[in-house]
Order: sequence, then structure tokens, then C-alpha cells
Amino acid sequence: MKITYLGHGGLGIHVNGIDIIVDPFITANPKASNINIEELKADYILITHAHQDHILDVEAIAKRTGAKIVSNYEIVTHFGNLGLEGHPMNHGGKWQFDFGTVKYVNAIHTSSFPDGSYGGQPGGFVIETNDKNIYIAGDTALTFDMKLIPMQTKLDLAILPIGDNFTMGIDDAVIASDFVECHKVLGYHFDTFGYIEIDHTEAKNTFSEKGKELLLLDIGEHIEL
Ligand code: NI
Ligand code: MN
Repeated sequence: MKITYLGHGGLGIHVNGIDIIVDPFITANPKASNINIEELKADYILITHAHQDHILDVEAIAKRTGAKIVSNYEIVTHFGNLGLEGHPMNHGGKWQFDFGTVKYVNAIHTSSFPDGSYGGQPGGFVIETNDKNIYIAGDTALTFDMKLIPMQTKLDLAILPIGDNFTMGIDDAVIASDFVECHKVLGYHFDTFGYIEIDHTEAKNTFSEKGKELLLLDIGEHIEL
């Protein structure tokens, strides 16, 4: 499994020959000017919640690629009304796709569309494949619900927000990694705006002091699991 950081909450995942984009917020992110959305491959677009900083480039990428949108019912309906194909889910449900199984799991956050309309409830994704298993937390607070995940899934990577203010910060992300029983963490949702700037060295040290690894990728950089 190859995971590319697209900036903010955005990810590109390549697994089993399939390309998945998560929460693309690229064209309005000056830090992501090295990413050209016209060049992104997508068979699926996973969306955690309806906030602008997670859906901005969904329509453009889905229209060009024909990617199927996977998200909560309200978000899939919203994009369906724009003529885009989707697969609706809701919390606690899972579905077997051609690349693996996706479960839409709880997140504590909000989820209105940019115009204020209802975007359903926010979530995260647990993706299980015959290659690796990952948890994409989405925008969320630390929550005991995370303890449910390792009861069913042995994770190889937890992708957690670490920017604080709108989501968990570093200290809570360390606890979240305990809850999900995964000590390899990819941090995201940091540095994009003034409210969520972090000290990278301090963040990594906070994890390493607990015997954990925090990965911070440059935008456009990838890891192989
Ligand atoms: Ni949000
Ligand atoms: Mn956000």
C-alpha cells in the first residue's frame, strides 16, 4: 500500500491496483501548489465530512475521473445531485469494495456543507485490505469509540489529526494511538492555517517518548506500508 500526503486532510492511497483519494483540499491550499489535481488518479474518493477543507476538489476530480464517492448518505446524495456517482454509508456499516473493506466509523466533530446545509454526521474510515489495514480518523476529538477499532482490526497505520484547535492535538493523538493499538501514526490536518500550526520536532518527540512513531510527510511525499 502506497500513501501519498496531499496536504491538510488529503491523502492518495494506491492499493491492489486501485487509486483512492481522501478529502481533497488542494486548489485553495497554497502549501499544496506542487499538487496538480488534473494529474491525480482516482477510482474512489472517500470523504470523511462535508467541511470545505475536505470536499473542495471532490467535484472536479470526480467529474474528470469518474471516481465513485464513498461517504455518509448526506454527502453522497449532495454529490449525486451534481450528477456524480457514489456509494452511501453510515456509521458502523462496512462494505466490501474491489480494493478491500471500508467501515465508516465514529468521529466527534461537525459536518455542515460550506453553505451551512446539513452534511450528515462526520466519520472516519477503517480500511482493511489483503495488503495492509489503516485507520483514517478524519477530523475528530479523542473519543473512547476508537477503542472499538482494535477489537476487530489489527492496524498497520493510524492516520490522525494532530493540529489541535479544530481536532485532536498531539497529546490526545498519542492517547488515540493507544486506543487503536497502533503505534505507527501518520499525522495530518496541521500547518495549513495559523490555528493548526505545530512544532514538528516537539510533536515527533512527544510520540517517541512513548515508544511510538509519528510520521510527518511533506506534501506530495509518500510512504510504502
Ligand atoms: Ni472539519
Ligand atoms: Mn478540517
